[in-house]
Amino acid sequence: MSNNLLANKKGIIFGALDEQSIAWHVAEKCVEQGAKITLTNAPVALRMGKIQELSAKLNAELIGADATSVEDLENLLKQSMQVLGGKIDFILHSIGMSLNVRKGKSYTDINYDFMLKTFDISAISFHKLMQSAYKLDAISEGGSILALTYIAAQRVFPDYSEMAESKALLESFARSFGYHFGTLKKVRVNTISQSPTWTTAGSGIKGFKEFYDYANKMSPLGNASADACGDYCVAMFSDLTRMVTMQNLYHDGGFSTMGMNPAILDM
Ligand SMILES: NC(=O)c1ccc[n+]([C@@H]2O[C@H](COP(=O)([O-])OP(=O)(O)OC[C@H]3O[C@@H](n4cnc5c(N)ncnc54)[C@H](O)[C@@H]3O)[C@@H](O)[C@H]2O)c1
Repeated sequence: MSNNLLANKKGIIFGALDEQSIAWHVAEKCVEQGAKITLTNAPVALRMGKIQELSAKLNAELIGADATSVEDLENLLKQSMQVLGGKIDFILHSIGMSLNVRKGKSYTDINYDFMLKTFDISAISFHKLMQSAYKLDAISEGGSILALTYIAAQRVFPDYSEMAESKALLESFARSFGYHFGTLKKVRVNTISQSPTWTTAGSGIKGFKEFYDYANKMSPLGNASADACGDYCVAMFSDLTRMVTMQNLYHDGGFSTMGMNPAILDM
């Protein structure tokens, strides 16, 4: 159901790889709510993923960009403004990848070159994106910028490995840049801390199924789905949340506040 919450708004959505991707759902919801968007992903994802299908379905231009390249990000912002016909009202950063996890390296046997690359892809890319947008004056007054994160930034989830520090850095960039963007033009910057979700990135974490089931039982509302995350992002991109900034917002069915749920004992 559409309330046209994003009518006349222009956005850029990073990170839709296939139908499971959280960004895929966010893109669909934004268009349903009246927004015009461009889609972007790394060049390799454009070749291997299904994002071309989403681009055709939503009539959204697809612009390749490696989020670690400032040159690619500047090009993406300029091209998006051209295609959409003006400054950008909202951006979703939905990017995460750990080289150590992917290569099977444990947290106590980290390869530091991999770790730096992980930080660059998963967190510093967010700063690069915001700095590029800030310098190009690419965001409209009152715009909204979001990145997706996970509670491992605050609590220990051993198998999440170096992604925990990536998310802590990401959340800190949101707070720090939120000050600069807010002061400059009332642009909001927030992170949404999402429940475990079945996606390519999520299911790459060791023991994901058990962990997914555990979080689902622990949360009074159960795990938040990618579809529900799409709705929350729409709310955060809309003018209804225009005074919310520099926050890490839990979208997790209550998981983050629970200590113990008796339902766990039945597992
Ligand atoms: N799945 C979960 O359980 C979960 C929970 C909380 C937060 N998140 C976060 O949600 C976000 C989206 O992940 P997802 O679960 O939808 O998985 P996903 O695998 O569908 O999305 C990750 C995306 O990052 C993109 N990417 C990787 N390297 C890139 C680069 N150099 N440049 C541009 N894009 C690049 C991938 O192509 C992919 O589209 C991530 O930040 C992830 O950490 C996921």
